[in-house]
Amino acid sequence: MGARTLHIKTFGCQMNVYDSARMADALAPLGFVSTERADDADVVILNTCHIRAKAAEKVYSELGRLRRLKAQKKDRGGRMILGVAGCVAQAEGEEILRRAPFVDLVVGPQAYHRLPRMIVDLDRSAVPAIDVDFPPESKFDHLPEFGAASGVGAFLTVQEGCDKFCSFCVVPYTRGAEYSRPAGDVLDEARRLVDAGARELTLLGQNVNNYHGARPRTFSPSRPGSAEWGLGRLIAELASIEGLERIRYTTSYPTDMNAELIAAHRDVAKLMPFVHLPAQSGSDKVLSAMNRRHDAAGYRRIAEAMRAARPDIAFSSDFIVGFPGEGEADFEDTLRLVRDVGFLQAYSFKYSPRPGTPAAAMADQVPERVKAARLMRLQELLGDQQMDFNRRCAGTVVGVLFERRGRRSGQILGRSPYSLPVHVEAGEDRIGTIAEVRVIRAYANSLRGRLEPGESNSVIPSATMESRAEARP
Ligand code: 5AD
Ligand code: SF4
Repeated sequence: MGARTLHIKTFGCQMNVYDSARMADALAPLGFVSTERADDADVVILNTCHIRAKAAEKVYSELGRLRRLKAQKKDRGGRMILGVAGCVAQAEGEEILRRAPFVDLVVGPQAYHRLPRMIVDLDRSAVPAIDVDFPPESKFDHLPEFGAASGVGAFLTVQEGCDKFCSFCVVPYTRGAEYSRPAGDVLDEARRLVDAGARELTLLGQNVNNYHGARPRTFSPSRPGSAEWGLGRLIAELASIEGLERIRYTTSYPTDMNAELIAAHRDVAKLMPFVHLPAQSGSDKVLSAMNRRHDAAGYRRIAEAMRAARPDIAFSSDFIVGFPGEGEADFEDTLRLVRDVGFLQAYSFKYSPRPGTPAAAMADQVPERVKAARLMRLQELLGDQQMDFNRRCAGTVVGVLFERRGRRSGQILGRSPYSLPVHVEAGEDRIGTIAEVRVIRAYANSLRGRLEPGESNSVIPSATMESRAEARP
């Protein structure tokens, strides 16, 4: 039998992007090659997101479209196996097969290592397969090693799940309890990714800064009881991998920002000065109803401690507007926090009641039009702050890690330490390297720059670059 084709469509967060790549790796031994096109694929998997109602509903409209493709393929004498993976699969399980009986496969995020077996079974029978267990074995121990060629920037999941139970959030139910991968496995995977061409790693986890993975056996404990490594220790070790230029991590919980990790921001030049630290709200009343473990002052203190360690650090965040009981004064508190911390960027959402979460049953739900108006005001402020920040970059020199060709010929595209896309006229041989770039134009979401004169052929080692730490403009 020739190669069979696999199409995975990914929704939601970066962890789903990572998971989709791992699913493709898991199915490669069965002869599956990835295709961009769904219409003729032998297996189509939707890797889904359940975080807000809109994200979850998208799955069913997408399934409607795929149902037609599947029928057309059948008319041509072929078969399309249609699967739903990710958090909607975990949350809705059998319900998906009731609402969309043409689906063949439902698999939750903790069961991806069982996917090849499920496909083999489906090859022999038409009975839908469903696996939304939280198995006792870890999928990480059973998934094959990373196979796909890596890009310049790669994701690496180090932690998964959440025990925080914010009252609005489905993640503790869909991703399960917190789990940290052993540090040795993470280091091995990081080395493989760097060997395959990665120059920047983004460590992923729902509570990534609460990472506490088993220390590698080859390291003797530095102090009694340090059988586990925190994220700061892990990052320090990753930084010694030759060829790796930049390290980032996402997403973090404010009160898990411990001293070791803050110190890593001071000591590890490869750790980028840009941290995603969701605040959700600036109102103590709302934060308490959200079951967050910090108030607004606590959040400010944590941000200040990080800025003291790394003066050019900038923050991005997530905010929810219109949480039950949020009044005008509470919303103003959020705007104040946004101004005070000077967020460079943030994702903001209207509160979306999710079935089974405590907040969905709270009194004082905020009317939709109030949510919409607040969201607009918040996004306007955030947009202004981002534009100001970008404008202040104009004229400065920033380190840019080039990732790929630009849209225009002769242009390549890289990222600043703050993850902002930077377009530069330069040869493609620079892809995968860092260069000093003078910013000549700032836009709302990107920068245009010119290679600094000394950049003719040389590639500057990142450590010296970053220790120059383009002062926060
Ligand atoms: N409604 C709106 N936004 C939500 N988020 C999580 N749950 C909800 C919800 N029910 C947002 C939070 C979180 C981000 C990933 O999604 O801001 O940090
Ligand atoms: Fe959801 Fe809160 Fe856990 Fe983040 S910390 S995943 S918002 S429950």
